[in-house]
Amino acid sequence: MNILDWENIYESKKVTAEEAISYIKSGDRVVTGHAAGEPTYLIDTLVDNYEMYENVEICHLVSTGEGKYTRPEMKGHFVFNGFFLGSGNRDAVARGQANYSPGFFHEIPKLFREVLPVDVALVMVSKPDKHGFCSFGTSSDYTKPVSDCAKIVIAQVNEFMPRTFGGNLIHVRDIDFIVEHSEPINEMQPAKVGILEKKIGKYCSTLIKDGDCLQLGIGSIPESVLPFLWDKKNLGLHTEMASDGIIDLMLAGVINNKLKAVEPGRSVITFVMGTRRLYDFIDDNPEISMNPVDYVNDPVVIAKNDNVVSINSCIQVDLMGQVVSESIGLKQFSGVGGQVDFVRGAAMSKGGRSIIAMLSTARGGTVSRIVPFIDKGAAVTTSRNDVHYVITEYGIALLKGKTLKDRARELIKIAHPKFRPELKEEYERRFLEPYDHGITENERPIEE
Ligand code: COA
Repeated sequence: MNILDWENIYESKKVTAEEAISYIKSGDRVVTGHAAGEPTYLIDTLVDNYEMYENVEICHLVSTGEGKYTRPEMKGHFVFNGFFLGSGNRDAVARGQANYSPGFFHEIPKLFREVLPVDVALVMVSKPDKHGFCSFGTSSDYTKPVSDCAKIVIAQVNEFMPRTFGGNLIHVRDIDFIVEHSEPINEMQPAKVGILEKKIGKYCSTLIKDGDCLQLGIGSIPESVLPFLWDKKNLGLHTEMASDGIIDLMLAGVINNKLKAVEPGRSVITFVMGTRRLYDFIDDNPEISMNPVDYVNDPVVIAKNDNVVSINSCIQVDLMGQVVSESIGLKQFSGVGGQVDFVRGAAMSKGGRSIIAMLSTARGGTVSRIVPFIDKGAAVTTSRNDVHYVITEYGIALLKGKTLKDRARELIKIAHPKFRPELKEEYERRFLEPYDHGITENERPIEE
């Protein structure tokens, strides 16, 4: 027997989940995999044994699980520190039991390497290949970089985890404790796209040209663009997240990545979130390159591709073009994620364009998303200096290169008609001239 054979190393590191989590100590910082890379079995075992711990900090980004460690009875045992919030944990932050930490997604690996040392990485990986490499599969992002710098790496080896290409591997010798547990990985059904979202998707598609390199953000609006891309040619994909919508466009060769400068021929992604169909599609697929987020979302890397188009969504835009995408007033709703990484990458890319697309209203049509002033306490995600296009179901507002006055006009044009009178009033107060002053026919808003 050769003790250097990876099979022997693998066997020597196999433990039960209970044993693995016994190496976590009170006060440790534990960073867990997220999205479709959430190591649910390890997290459940940790939560089941909560009484063993005091003040264990749990950090991650997108949660697809229940976030049981934020339940009231976990207080004092676990403290969640989120870098992106979701339905499982935003209420815990609002009631003061958990925290949110701001930070651009592409900087999260550096944060854990240099500012917030990681005691334990709790991750999920594929079964090892014939050379002993496990893949982070669906989620390379910070999971791979954190596993490279954590004091202890505990990995759930799950045969349902796809094996993906790119800088997304860990050798079994670099894992400290291996817990074999196979279970279906978390899925996300495609977002529901209604009539208004379809209108928005269509407007977005009019700004996309053959040969563009796309990034599509999170939520139903970016998703709504995909059905309108079928007549395009030679599209590229360099994106933080990908969902089921990319599959058929790649199969049909609409997205073929032929014209990209960065990894031509391959879709470059940092994490995927979708159904099992997507996870099977990326499995062993040489056209998919999954890589850490400090590479994929680095604006300098993004900008190496020409004609980058980023499409993201938001909660509010004020009349100057300040974009709020992550909070509703003081309440932290999600996080900056990669929105600004891609808005900036697109701005730096030759021919690049960034789009912020949203429904003109929220809360069943009772509030306008285009507002004179952002809500008290809200965080500006994309600044007015970065914003380029804003799109609603009423059309396209081009803000880049425009004066404050022209920006306000552009935005009023695409606001819901019901809220335009108050926006026009604010325009007249702010700019000391009638809204209709010198307005041309094609600057007039589209009515319902
Ligand atoms: N005032 C009050 N509430 C508002 C609002 C506003 N102006 N805008 C949205 N909301 C509420 C909605 O009513 C909805 O509430 P509900 O959950 O109770 O139904 C909720 O906020 C979410 O709004 P919605 O627009 O439907 O969300 P979405 O799923 O389409 O996601 C963002 C939109 C902006 C939250 C999401 O895109 C995001 O988190 N973006 C930031 C990160 C990012 O862009 N990453 C990109 C790279 S992947």
